[in-house]
Amino acid sequence: MTGSADRQPERTHPGKPKRTHQGKPKPTYQDKIALITGASRGIGRTLALKLAAGGATIVVNYRKNADLADKVVAEARSLGGDGLAVGADVENPEDIVRLFDSIAGEYGRLDFFVNNAAASAFKKVLDLKSHHLDRSYATNVRPFVLGAQEAVKLMDAGGRIVAVSSYGSMRAFATYAALGSYKATVESFIRFMAVEFAGYGINVNGVSGGLIESDSLDYFYDIEGMAPIQSVLDKIPMGRPGTVDDMANAIEFLLSDKSAYITGQMIVVDGGLTVAAPPYYHETAAPVSLPPRPIRD
Ligand SMILES: NC(=O)c1ccc[n+]([C@@H]2O[C@H](COP(=O)([O-])OP(=O)(O)OC[C@H]3O[C@@H](n4cnc5c(N)ncnc54)[C@H](OP(=O)(O)O)[C@@H]3O)[C@@H](O)[C@H]2O)c1
Repeated sequence: MTGSADRQPERTHPGKPKRTHQGKPKPTYQDKIALITGASRGIGRTLALKLAAGGATIVVNYRKNADLADKVVAEARSLGGDGLAVGADVENPEDIVRLFDSIAGEYGRLDFFVNNAAASAFKKVLDLKSHHLDRSYATNVRPFVLGAQEAVKLMDAGGRIVAVSSYGSMRAFATYAALGSYKATVESFIRFMAVEFAGYGINVNGVSGGLIESDSLDYFYDIEGMAPIQSVLDKIPMGRPGTVDDMANAIEFLLSDKSAYITGQMIVVDGGLTVAAPPYYHETAAPVSLPPRPIRD
């Protein structure tokens, strides 16, 4: 479960002049303003740096790691982008309003909103208390909806909204009920928002991750009742965990011009994990086991 909010004062950085790109093609995201919640680490950080490398201005939201968020902004600048770090606990509606107020005050507009920050209690359904459910909703669903409402007000030239989900929205596994069910709610909101916001020129989509190597993986598979990580890795058809880069690439696609006609959809980034079913190839004997690769005559 998330701890209490660390009330870091909101921090802004004076904008520095953007690099000029005389004679070179205009960077992909020049003039784009992107808010990524939970961008001090993991998937959010990687995405922020990808966008910054394309010239974007990134708003790096974090909950407690101000130093890491500042480093992301500094790195973004060294890559040719710009940005600022804003501490806000998305569990608190007032913090969400303050987060968007700082974007409105600094830039007056927004192009991309990526709802990435997440936290929850990891327990069996029978052990979930009322406060676990309340906080999981408040951290995972409510910030997406309240954040999207604020984002729409700042996306006067259209925009993109992407929410990050996970395979627990579709599949049941031990300890993940609270987060998985609220991720499913987020995915449902994606579809409602996509229809409602289409008239504003705003696309709304989601990226769902399987087993992705990040800080959260370090503790998740140690939680009591969780399956050993190797037993999950063994089921991934592609034979490896996903990386934060794999996730950020899919999100970046949904923010790019290349996905202009896609809205209300999910991209699943899991190496085939959620489409594989028993009997798994590695558990089966001949003749069902992996055949030699066919070759052309
Ligand atoms: N890793 C996986 O295996 C995996 C798989 C599928 C989906 N996902 C999804 O991917 C997203 C990112 O996960 P990750 O693994 O990259 O996370 P992570 O490495 O654990 O980083 C979490 C980020 O969220 C921030 N954060 C946490 N609670 C917050 C709050 N209440 N308010 C504001 N910021 C908050 C953290 O800020 P501080 O640094 O200040 O704490 C940090 O920047 C999540 O939606 C997660 O459910 C992850």
